[in-house]
Amino acid sequence: MQIKLAPSILAADVRSLGEQISQIEKAGADYVHIDVMDGVFVPNISFGIPIVEGLRSCTDMFFDVHLMIERPIDHVRDFVKAGADGITVHVETCGDDLYKTVIEILGNGAKPAVAIRPDTPVDLILPVLDQLSMVLIMTVYPGYGGQKIIKETYSKINKIRNIINDRGLDVDVEVDGGITLDNVCEVRDYGANVIVAGTSIFRGDIGTNVAAFRDVLR
Ligand code: DX5
Ligand code: ZN
Repeated sequence: MQIKLAPSILAADVRSLGEQISQIEKAGADYVHIDVMDGVFVPNISFGIPIVEGLRSCTDMFFDVHLMIERPIDHVRDFVKAGADGITVHVETCGDDLYKTVIEILGNGAKPAVAIRPDTPVDLILPVLDQLSMVLIMTVYPGYGGQKIIKETYSKINKIRNIINDRGLDVDVEVDGGITLDNVCEVRDYGANVIVAGTSIFRGDIGTNVAAFRDVLR
């Protein structure tokens, strides 16, 4: 299975975001992972709709927008209008509206994904799994870049991958948080095929880092 690399621009230098996106594109990354935080669901506040819209003119790469916000359904349309290709919502923020939220993403023409925190069971995703393009298994507690991976999440990667395969679905499994050259093959072997990496791509030389990931994943 082809592994996709999704550098998280949370770790990029905001003074030259457009330039750094060109660098990851040239280096052969697949997605731009954009972390949206509201200071409520997670303690941190990061990028919003104007940033997505502004960056849209820099590249045709797939914008993988990770919404760490309460009531994401209220904002789906605006994020898609701004240029999001895929929208990931957290199961913990959707309550009874999970299905409606996924349908809202599809209805606006984007690819839907659902994320879970390390303390949330995989089972909560299953009612909407058939509708999804991707599942995001968080490998750290969302909110900040640069954290250490929580290896107890590996069993969830494996569990969701087995369910997807057993049901014959075409759904990607993304991992996000603390991914490095030392653990990326482990998460791949447990069943992840979309790899988010912030610190380990944007710290140092971007081209060299992307190439190093490609190399170990070969
Ligand atoms: C964390 C974010 C991640 C983060 C990853 O809440 O969802 O996407 O930017 O950063 P690293 O790779 O540095 O852990
Ligand atoms: Zn993220």
